[in-house]
Amino acid sequence: MKKVLIIGKNGMLGQELVKIFKQDKNYKVVAWDKEDIDISREKEVAKKISIIHPEIILNAAAYNAVDKCENKKEFEVAKKINGLAPGYLAAAAKKNKAILVHYSSDYVFNGLPEIPEPSGCTHSCGSCGLHADFVPEIGFSENDKPKPVNAYGKTKLLGEKAVAKNTKKYYLIRISKLFGAAALTKDAKKSFFDVMLELGKKNKEVKVVDEEIACFTYAPDLAKKTKEIIDAEKPFGIYHITNTDQTTWYEACVTLYKLAKLKTKIIPVSGEEFPRPAARPYCSVLLNTKLNPLRSYKEALKEYLKK
Ligand SMILES: NC(=O)c1ccc[n+]([C@@H]2O[C@H](COP(=O)([O-])OP(=O)(O)OC[C@H]3O[C@@H](n4cnc5c(N)ncnc54)[C@H](OP(=O)(O)O)[C@@H]3O)[C@@H](O)[C@H]2O)c1
Repeated sequence: MKKVLIIGKNGMLGQELVKIFKQDKNYKVVAWDKEDIDISREKEVAKKISIIHPEIILNAAAYNAVDKCENKKEFEVAKKINGLAPGYLAAAAKKNKAILVHYSSDYVFNGLPEIPEPSGCTHSCGSCGLHADFVPEIGFSENDKPKPVNAYGKTKLLGEKAVAKNTKKYYLIRISKLFGAAALTKDAKKSFFDVMLELGKKNKEVKVVDEEIACFTYAPDLAKKTKEIIDAEKPFGIYHITNTDQTTWYEACVTLYKLAKLKTKIIPVSGEEFPRPAARPYCSVLLNTKLNPLRSYKEALKEYLKK
């Protein structure tokens, strides 16, 4: 039986990780959150993890307030949790000969992926005949160079580097736009779909930003895939896990209201109508070149709505 330590057990993802690992008798689950450990305290992390001596550590704890993070003081707090703490966990994992699974974000990228050319085209012409049937896969793959456009993204990138610097036995899983059951914490952030459902029920029309092309990630699907990676002993390194079917916020809302049979009118607007402190990447689709793809977010959303 393998001992797995799940940190961030009350979070949106943490809850699902606990559920999926507890279902398997081959794992003994120890689950912690803020009341059990403060991952931003290096000595506490080293001491508490050595006592538990897990074989696998899953870190789903994070600072996730993207806009608040633009504030200088908050940025310092976020840097400790997202930037430094993953390094402490990685060092503790190495000391205990454990594997570390850490989660990062599409927001480590700048939002402007390169447009691939069809093979054989060497001059970026767009008219050499090779382009006719060529549908480029636009997005960021696992090895693309991160370059965050907001403070939150910077803290997550620091965390990625801290993990890689402190251990070799890690899975760094980048995800985007997580949805699922809300976290069990006091200030739990509702996912986009829950917010839009509430608004759709209260209003005759809603305005939704028709920008930020990316993929949603259903927390239960992500938890299951994480376990599959561990069980299959996949090579260590970076993985991109999201549900398939890229979308803007507006298109996702259209899908949601259709599935929920809401008649609310949806008006697509530009991001300028809802100015926010943190810049958002224009396109942050995460390309998965290593794993079998997950189902479409539309299928996952249908399941979520039934629950
Ligand atoms: N949510 C998204 O859309 C999204 C998108 C891309 C990537 N991600 C990444 O996916 C992972 C999971 O995100 P999530 O949305 O499931 O997170 P979440 O719901 O915010 O849960 C994070 C948990 O970590 C706890 N925590 C915060 N600071 C801690 C500390 N110093 N020590 C111990 N625990 C602490 C939080 O407690 P409190 O709430 O009480 O602070 C909370 O229970 C994170 O790495 C996140 O950055 C999320």
